[in-house]
Amino acid sequence: MKPRVFVTRRIPEAGLSRIRAACDADIWTERLPPPYETIRERIKDCEGLVSLLTDRIDGPLLDAAPRLKVVSNFAVGFNNVDVPACTARGVCVGNTPGALTDATADCAFMLLIAAARRLAEGILDVRGGRWLTWEPVGYLGLDLAGKTLGVVGMGRIGYALAQRCRGGWGMNVLYHDVQPSPKAESDLGARRVELDELLRQSDFISMHAALTPENRHLIGDAQFRLMKKTAVFVNTARGPLVDQAALYRALTSGTIFAAGLDVTDPEPPDPKDPLLQLPNVVIAPHLASATVSTRDGMAEICADNLIAGVTGQPLRAWVNPEVAAKRR
Ligand code: DGY
Repeated sequence: MKPRVFVTRRIPEAGLSRIRAACDADIWTERLPPPYETIRERIKDCEGLVSLLTDRIDGPLLDAAPRLKVVSNFAVGFNNVDVPACTARGVCVGNTPGALTDATADCAFMLLIAAARRLAEGILDVRGGRWLTWEPVGYLGLDLAGKTLGVVGMGRIGYALAQRCRGGWGMNVLYHDVQPSPKAESDLGARRVELDELLRQSDFISMHAALTPENRHLIGDAQFRLMKKTAVFVNTARGPLVDQAALYRALTSGTIFAAGLDVTDPEPPDPKDPLLQLPNVVIAPHLASATVSTRDGMAEICADNLIAGVTGQPLRAWVNPEVAAKRR
């Protein structure tokens, strides 16, 4: 008999076909995520679960699934999964690193340049008939060449953004991370600094840290005040890393120049949120990894993690390998 699994959304066929071939798969086909209670109900007899970043996977949910062996998250970030709770119950956790590095770095760069060059404001003016004529001092933005990029979290994606900015625009790179990155230092001349120094010195600040309970609202009023008035702030990591009310204050008071966001808190934002109306912010709907080949790659890793989890093999991308000795 094939192992029973619940898949909380239709993921690309590149992964789904592997899952269907190896497992007895119950797939949630609606556009919106299944409610927490529905997931709880549907995984009662399951050995595997494919979750998305919109699904909260915690201890009480796991307790409803005594046969569950693996949670395979369709994302590189896994802040939606209580990993210690999984480990304590012998449940493996997988994620999808690598597949989305370039697509996400591309998106961070797109937001960086769009915010620096006031693209959102310009597009709205063109569409709304407010663009009157070419003006010598109209839509003045910021140059990128030779400026300083500050990367908060020098993992794969932070490195890939720094590589683009260094190689293409000759930027200086500062980074803040608990771990040094000898590769970023030797390849890109990056310098590891304290967060405050990074915020003070950078022209462009890009968030690439994983969200943890400790770094929620890592960037708030005090941090925005340290930034240059000409700073451009970019977040493609997780919305709650930033105090969004503080970001609004920073953008409306001239504390910083502009922001580019692919992530917000909450997601989606309330359409009435005044942040959405500001001319100096460009907000995308968490689409950084949304390219055909990237999502296919994520789906393949996600399926491989799921199948490895239910068949007792090592996961391809294993968040909690320490569970190996006591996995279900
Ligand atoms: C992730 O994978 O964590 C992204 O936020 C979505 O692709």
